[in-house]
Amino acid sequence: MGIRFLEQERMFALDTPNTTYLMGIVDREGFLGHVYYGKKLGDVTGAKELLRTLEGPFTPETNSRDRSSFLDAFPFEYASHGVGDFRESSVRVRDANGCSAVLLTYRSHNIYKGKHALPGLPAVFGSEDQVETLEILCEDPCLGLRAVLSYSVFEDTDAIARSVRFENAGGAVLYLEKAMSMCLDMDNPGFDAITLHGSWARERHMERKPIGHGRFSVSTLRGETSHQEHCFMALAAPGADRDKGEVYGFHLVYSGNFLIQAEVNQFDSVRVTAGIQPEDFCWKLSPGESFQTPEVILTYSAAGLGGMTTSLHHLYRNHLIRSPYLHQKRPILINNWEATYFDFDEKKLLDIARESASLGIEMLVMDDGWFGNRFDDNRALGDWRVNEEKLKGGLGPLVRQINELGMKFGIWFEPEMISEESELYRQHPDWAIAVPGRRPTLSRNQYVLDISRREVRDCILEQVFAVLHSANIEYVKWDMNRPLTDLGSAALPADRQGELYHRYVLGMYEMQERLIREFPNLLLENCSGGGGRFDPGMLYYSPQIWCSDDTDAVERLAIQESTAMLYPLSTMGAHVSVCPNHTVGRNTPFETRGYVALAGTFGYELDITALSPEDKAMVPRQTALYHRFHDLIREGEYYRLSSYQENHSFDCFQVNSPDGREILVFYTQVLNGPARHSRFVRLKGLEEGVRYRVSLVTMEEGALLRDTGRVASGETLMYGGFRLEQQWGDFRSSIFHLERLAD
Ligand code: DGJ
Repeated sequence: MGIRFLEQERMFALDTPNTTYLMGIVDREGFLGHVYYGKKLGDVTGAKELLRTLEGPFTPETNSRDRSSFLDAFPFEYASHGVGDFRESSVRVRDANGCSAVLLTYRSHNIYKGKHALPGLPAVFGSEDQVETLEILCEDPCLGLRAVLSYSVFEDTDAIARSVRFENAGGAVLYLEKAMSMCLDMDNPGFDAITLHGSWARERHMERKPIGHGRFSVSTLRGETSHQEHCFMALAAPGADRDKGEVYGFHLVYSGNFLIQAEVNQFDSVRVTAGIQPEDFCWKLSPGESFQTPEVILTYSAAGLGGMTTSLHHLYRNHLIRSPYLHQKRPILINNWEATYFDFDEKKLLDIARESASLGIEMLVMDDGWFGNRFDDNRALGDWRVNEEKLKGGLGPLVRQINELGMKFGIWFEPEMISEESELYRQHPDWAIAVPGRRPTLSRNQYVLDISRREVRDCILEQVFAVLHSANIEYVKWDMNRPLTDLGSAALPADRQGELYHRYVLGMYEMQERLIREFPNLLLENCSGGGGRFDPGMLYYSPQIWCSDDTDAVERLAIQESTAMLYPLSTMGAHVSVCPNHTVGRNTPFETRGYVALAGTFGYELDITALSPEDKAMVPRQTALYHRFHDLIREGEYYRLSSYQENHSFDCFQVNSPDGREILVFYTQVLNGPARHSRFVRLKGLEEGVRYRVSLVTMEEGALLRDTGRVASGETLMYGGFRLEQQWGDFRSSIFHLERLAD
């Protein structure tokens, strides 16, 4: 593993198990250039030529007359602004004169074992044996600005974490107007960009398109990661697909406004930048102060998108999620949202709990509507006191009765919001984010709390903690149901208003940190109107995130496929709900809904007291299935085999147990059609020279698995294929179980 500084070549070499990342210093000027990122190089001799400093435009040292030609072509490791590089800059600083030029050059570096935490921000981590960090100090003496470029490499994962810390080492105030987390310049072999886009209830659908000259970006200005775009971009080289070819992945560990951009320039090279969205961002940096950017994860895979997926899954499982639930079974929950919406009371919840407990469900989650006068979504956010009209005697008796049924209890909060119709708003109207003199835009009839303010965070957390201390509450769903608009904080001076978007995110992170410290055994599930804030940043606080408000099994295929391209299955909140589905009105078999939800954290979100006898009879079978396979699904190696988004016909993926003894193949056929052959998918990660017995998961009484009589070798299954029969009817799903036979 590790990081080396090659004295003679003046190059940094960063190695992960299968990749090498190289940077070089151009002496005299101290420009730091990107040399190479890709397949591991055992020997880097000659690599510095990749900087092209031996050809025109030569370095300013040899040809200062054409300094701007050099600056506009050199592959900068962190790009300047306003001095001759006309590509996307990495940083922009407004100085005391009102000017904005920046040019950072190399000063010194430091390599150390381990990795420091980023103050106030989520970040990947690892022990001194697992990760090594390089910090490169760059400086702009004219501004008195220092930038510490940080690179951490992992011994067990093909991932590099980058971030930047700025320090004002001068005597005058500086305004950081742009502070990207990374810049990467490399030749463009004809990359396609792969991004995830969507909408409410249609999160994270995959899109692939060629990048051409000019700029292609994904971004948000909604104050949260958003349903619409995801803080991720991959660049796939020509011919790269799921299984082969070169893929570069960029994933921001951040939950607010972001920008990730690929720019192809006149020389057909590409510059990738990623970080906080510069629009509406301006951070005041007084002398002596510093600013830390969020972290971005870089991956390189020579084995297509699948290789990137494996790296990200490993990284997030082993070096990002901190929850004690990471490697633990998650209780099978039932959430009352789609069952009752706001219309529930203690009796209704207990009816649901009783029925659920008898069917093997392990936790009742009481969703929105239990507090203040919250009889609909027009009021009460901010008043986190139990509504005793609905829950007589408060939470204590309810939770006790639920515990007596052998079930755990969980609760919903939306801590970042305030309703106009609330006690809190009557007392503190200035706690809502708003522009002075302008009525802020309502969304879901609510405003956003200014959680950049300590007193606001304290007041909300005090209420939340009081509720959580009042009963045996073991799970919290932390929701966030509207984007930020009308940015203005009553507590910030005019020259700091540009900090609000980021301060909001820092405030939210701080609240989540305090919550999990106060309740270290709490199972926290993040949510934002479904999956509007599903990002690596939030995984630092919660091991699972509600994937989407769309619980329809077919809609979920695409959402879960794209989410699983980046995130382990154990992070994806997935529930079985009723039909016709509340979002799309579709009817799918109960069995299929169960199989699709099993690919995530698994739970129910329906009125179980009103379920048909046939569906109800299936619940104990489904919960038994979860008990049998939750370890494998949570800890296993995930492989995508076929994509419904691509083939418009069926979905298929595979999960292999870490010891390779058991494999599950999930197969969902969306529409049936006439006159079709069976399908073959090539399985992955099996062993050659080993045979596997194929069983079918069954919902029938008796054993969970039915032997199909099929046995096949690893090589047959991987290179020949695994047969999936056309299923009778639409929306049919099957799960196959493969067991490695003894030698
Ligand atoms: C949005 C969430 O995604 C839903 O699951 C539910 O909790 C509602 N909010 C409640 O308002």
